[in-house]
Amino acid sequence: MDRLKLDVNGCFDAAAGGLDRADLAALAPAARAAFDAFEARRKSGELGFAELPADAAGADAAVRLARELAGRFENLLVLGIGGSSLGGRAIVSALAHPFHNLLPRERRGALRIFFPDNSDPATFEALLGTLDLAETCFATVTKSGGTAETMAQHLALRERCLARFGEEGYRERCVLVTDPANGALRAIAGAERLRALSVPANVGGRFSALSAVGLLPAAAAGVDVAELLAGAAAMEARCRSGTAGENPALLYAAALHLLDRKKGRRIHVLMPYADALRDAGDWFVQLWAESLGKRPDVGPTPFRAVGATDQHSSLQLMMEGPHDKVVTLVRVTHPRADVSMNVPPVYAAHAEIAYLHGHTMGELIEAERRATGAALRKAGRPTISIELPRLDARAVGELLMLLELATAYAGGLYGVNAFDQPGVEAGKKLAQGLLGRPGYEKYRDELAGAPPPDPALVLG
Ligand code: PA5
Repeated sequence: MDRLKLDVNGCFDAAAGGLDRADLAALAPAARAAFDAFEARRKSGELGFAELPADAAGADAAVRLARELAGRFENLLVLGIGGSSLGGRAIVSALAHPFHNLLPRERRGALRIFFPDNSDPATFEALLGTLDLAETCFATVTKSGGTAETMAQHLALRERCLARFGEEGYRERCVLVTDPANGALRAIAGAERLRALSVPANVGGRFSALSAVGLLPAAAAGVDVAELLAGAAAMEARCRSGTAGENPALLYAAALHLLDRKKGRRIHVLMPYADALRDAGDWFVQLWAESLGKRPDVGPTPFRAVGATDQHSSLQLMMEGPHDKVVTLVRVTHPRADVSMNVPPVYAAHAEIAYLHGHTMGELIEAERRATGAALRKAGRPTISIELPRLDARAVGELLMLLELATAYAGGLYGVNAFDQPGVEAGKKLAQGLLGRPGYEKYRDELAGAPPPDPALVLG
């Protein structure tokens, strides 16, 4: 069976400022230690994301609930932020029709899905003003059960549903995805008798794409959840060795880590040549940044680009800017559809257009991917290649699991805990202090006590 292919030759190209094979050999003990440390935490039950593909009961519950909602509504709003939004969005945009929400119901065969994500009132109000609430249900997704942005959206929508449809109507429209036992939302599920799916306690936000967090929206959009999980399971099975040469996720983590530490390539670009993987790029950015950015001396910077679009934008920086980047080019070998190009006689005199004749858009984007990789290496820039045989649920499952495991191993290689995020707490506490949360007065006072800005540095 076709499967995802990882090729790191482009970062062992001496002319491309790449690594030595000896670097990889020397990293072997550290790579094994990172693998063993992750396996130990996994076996102790502390970390559960790699077990998600085997959680048939969790997947069934998500699929059943999605079917129930699809039988009654037209629109599903997924209220969540960070890991509680990006994974579901990545899966849906990779696998649903590119214009899924615009299709008529009979062609769509599934719910329209919206991920408002941010608590920007302008977007949220515009979305609520656009959709027919009678036809709309919503999933409030928060692992901790009390994230301010998510709960703000939940409260606003709850109030509107109660006012318009009464308690039964609200209960019919609202489902929750949260921790199985802890947090305000779990208590609310009980008190308000709402349907609720669980995110296993040992699965953190950004590693939760293959739990109900991602599976509910995926199933609601008509994605083949069983194949998605089968792909993830197949990748997990390929990653059971502590030797980088036998474990794609460990090899990927080791190559990126070495390029950072030995060659100063600390900006890690993920550049799929497929629009459908744009959101997977955003998901990767969060995964890599929030997991690895933990000390002033540790924190490769992830960057999302899309080919060929970014060839007319950030590629210039990658090609001739500082030697601090490594670009992972993602190819989809067999695109879902192709479009041929016919150059009419009136254009044939223009050599800069005429060569397109007889080719397809698929050939064009593939030629651009190959050429960009070669040009980057020629310019002394290392590259990595990931190839998905096709853009289907199985391949997307493989890709998500590859990147999640690579993140876990990279945490071990960098010597940081990839599974916490203490750095985002400080800002949250100050914001809650400003909004008057009891017990948070000292944070509000801290802001009030800050020295006034120097007016000479303020214009306007
Ligand atoms: O990866 C993480 O832990 C975070 O990005 C969370 O997903 C994000 O902060 C949302 O958290 P929660 O699901 O608790 O609302």
